[in-house]
Amino acid sequence: MPMCVGVSSVLALGASIICRKMPGLSPRQRSICEARPDAMIAIGTGARMATDECRYQFQHSRWNCTSLGEPSLFGPELKVGSRETAFYYAILSAGIAHSITNACSHGNLTYCGCDRDKHGHHDPEKGWRWGGCSADIKHGIRLSREFVDAREVKRNARTLMNLHNNLVGRKILEKSVRLECKCHGVSGSCTVKTCWVTLPHFREVGHMLKEKYKEAVMVEAVRGRRQQIPTFLKLKNPQNYNKPAETDLVYVDNPPNFCEKDNFTGSMGTYGRLCNRTSTLSDSCDLLCCGRGYKTFQYTHTWQCHCKFHWCCHVTCSTCSERTQAYTCN
Ligand SMILES: *[C@@H]1O[C@H](CO)[C@@H](O)[C@H](O)[C@H]1NC(C)=O
Ligand SMILES: *[C@@H]1O[C@H](CO)[C@@H](O)[C@H](O)[C@H]1NC(C)=O
Ligand SMILES: *[C@@H]1O[C@H](CO)[C@@H](O)[C@H](O)[C@H]1NC(C)=O
Ligand SMILES: *[C@@H]1O[C@H](CO)[C@@H](O)[C@H](O)[C@H]1NC(C)=O
Repeated sequence: MPMCVGVSSVLALGASIICRKMPGLSPRQRSICEARPDAMIAIGTGARMATDECRYQFQHSRWNCTSLGEPSLFGPELKVGSRETAFYYAILSAGIAHSITNACSHGNLTYCGCDRDKHGHHDPEKGWRWGGCSADIKHGIRLSREFVDAREVKRNARTLMNLHNNLVGRKILEKSVRLECKCHGVSGSCTVKTCWVTLPHFREVGHMLKEKYKEAVMVEAVRGRRQQIPTFLKLKNPQNYNKPAETDLVYVDNPPNFCEKDNFTGSMGTYGRLCNRTSTLSDSCDLLCCGRGYKTFQYTHTWQCHCKFHWCCHVTCSTCSERTQAYTCN
């Protein structure tokens, strides 16, 4: 990804130059980039973290987060409004908020640090006081929203979908922050207890969004009264005007099957993918290979075994091997 250039060389180039050269930024994003060049590094880190997590969560699925779109800061551009796209937008906005908040807590950014509202206050009812460095999740979320939402310039069903899924990503992140506490006092007696807010591991956010992906709901865009353009989303089924919940991932297009290579949907096809003959899940040869069948190949798996420790000091091992089979999609 173009953001992976060395940090110091990026800053030495000057904000306006890198912001102009960075591919795929909207004009509004370019001006945020110029105003907050320090945050751009955290934004790039967040985008990469989101892509890695997406690959991890979808490693056994037909679509595994690849796309043939133009590479940009945001990775693949997904042209179809499918539930996979919904997941990708949500994890991207969560990743960027996570990464900015983390950089703030480490003192790496100019305009943020620890959450000052959560410092030094004592709440007698709770029996503990705020201490340490609480993650300033509100700042991370605000900047992620400003930056990520700034690329949705048009107003149509797809942009409403993207904006909604961006929001879901941030909400899920916000819901998964944790309280960590520490006891102080003679031999851990806990006469004083201090607590602070920490970010969840990003893997947890990935798992939660993967669950949301499975329950994603199809929506359609509706024009408000006397409006020329779509202004809100409603559930496609049932025939009522219910809006999707703030934590529901939404999609507008019927899902592509990702069996064949297709530049438009970002599908790479599943030819040659490793599949699992005994699984009943998405990595099964049946599902992953889209009914085209699979090839079996034999290979020898070798490893060190029967290791013994000799006094003193060496270890001897034998080499074990086993003929194993693996399967790839036709
Ligand atoms: C903070 O900045 C230092 C020095 O540039 C870097 O090594 C570190 O990875 C950064 N940490 C975060 C969380 O941004
Ligand atoms: C897909 O895109 C690649 C490169 O962008 C191009 O070489 C290829 O011909 C395209 N395939 C189709 C089916 O459009
Ligand atoms: C994802 O799918 C592509 C195309 O089928 C394949 O080449 C690639 O190795 C897969 N990536 C992972 C991480 O499994
Ligand atoms: C295949 O799937 C089965 C059942 O889900 C699992 O126990 C096994 O470890 C999988 N094999 C490989 C090679 O991933």
